[in-house]
Amino acid sequence: MCLYTGASEKQKDLCLSSNDSNQRIVSGMRPTGRLHLGHLHGVLNNWVQLQHEYECFFFVADYHALTTNYEHSESIDQFSFETVVDWLAAGVNPGAATVFVQSKVPEHAELHLMLSMIAPLAWLERVPSYKDQQQKLHDRDLATYGFLGYPLLQAADILIYRAGRVPVGADQVAHVELTREIARRFNHVYGREPGFEEQAEAAVKKMGKKAARLYVELRREYQERGDAEALERARALLAEQQNLSIGDTERLFGYLEGSGRIILPEPQSMLAEQSKMPGLDGEKMSKSYNNTIGLREDPASVESKIRTMQTDPARVRRNDPGNPDNCPVFALHEVYSDDDVRQWATEGCKTAGIGCVDCKQPLIDSINSEQEIIRQRAVQFEDDPDLVHAVIAEGSEKARAVARETMEEVKAAVGIGGR
Ligand code: TRP
Ligand code: SF4
Repeated sequence: MCLYTGASEKQKDLCLSSNDSNQRIVSGMRPTGRLHLGHLHGVLNNWVQLQHEYECFFFVADYHALTTNYEHSESIDQFSFETVVDWLAAGVNPGAATVFVQSKVPEHAELHLMLSMIAPLAWLERVPSYKDQQQKLHDRDLATYGFLGYPLLQAADILIYRAGRVPVGADQVAHVELTREIARRFNHVYGREPGFEEQAEAAVKKMGKKAARLYVELRREYQERGDAEALERARALLAEQQNLSIGDTERLFGYLEGSGRIILPEPQSMLAEQSKMPGLDGEKMSKSYNNTIGLREDPASVESKIRTMQTDPARVRRNDPGNPDNCPVFALHEVYSDDDVRQWATEGCKTAGIGCVDCKQPLIDSINSEQEIIRQRAVQFEDDPDLVHAVIAEGSEKARAVARETMEEVKAAVGIGGR
């Protein structure tokens, strides 16, 4: 399955960042309360797929909620809990992915602080969401240090796991780009160490003869001729090495490109195939438009929401023919129905052969059967909140173990917190 839009195979390969963290994914979601079908089709189904293909870290971005809403912090914990229940109900499997809550892994905040020291103010001010949100969210106080710094917090969320890929929506790509720039800057400032060349040469020797010779050759091809394929092959070679310490691996990644050590590798964003999940009114499904169907909505409520949906305004009476292109119900058929059903609806609509009530029925059935399994999974968690808290606690510990390692290296590179 192609997880990217607009990238050729070649570009995808060249997209690989500089170590085996390519196999690692991190993504976060703000706790905004119960999730809806837009989240399912836009994000969660993708995560459920990815969790079997990559090492995944999925977290509830509760600090992020504070950056735009510090005045209304009272529901954040409740929302975080519900968010995790929704993820689990949608099929995110804590046996396959690490599921946790951001504030339970304080290393996110610690790295954010460290990065804030080297983050140029101008970089943060020109992140598009900074001005956009200030213009859109009038009722919030966004003239804070925290709000300015939130893309940097996101950079810390990603870099703390040295993740290679970040599944995000198009609106978040600029944040991943900032993350790359920050990583590059950090490596540039702190990746220099006395005797770097000598240490790198010594590390080459630890690789084993054949691999070492290949590395040297590929490095030369890249440095002398800018051969991008050689660079990729050398990176893959390094990622395979079992006998190198993390420090030596970083050195050799850095040496390859002639810089210093690469302490924080640059991640790539991974654009999910855009699902245009329409809401009840045909606009994008979104809580703020009040046009959602909940992820765990009861069947009767799903039925009544669909039954009361507006249809093509031209179909006033049952005998008036309609046009599916002007109908939000048909937009849902595009997501939920197969060719046959769509064909049936289109023809029936245009010829007034079916009524809108008929047209809606297969949708009600499909949505309810999609939700059936989600509701079933949710029951065990609703009945036993401790189970959910245990998943969060365990995931947070697992995440912390990785995050601590990064933090140690970051501090050592900066020269702080040692003895
Ligand atoms: N900022 C993202 C959003 O609003 C959520 C988020 C926070 C995130 N940290 C992240 C996404 C790290 C990906 C990776 O949707
Ligand atoms: Fe919409 Fe279906 Fe009614 Fe046509 S028949 S207007 S597509 S609900």
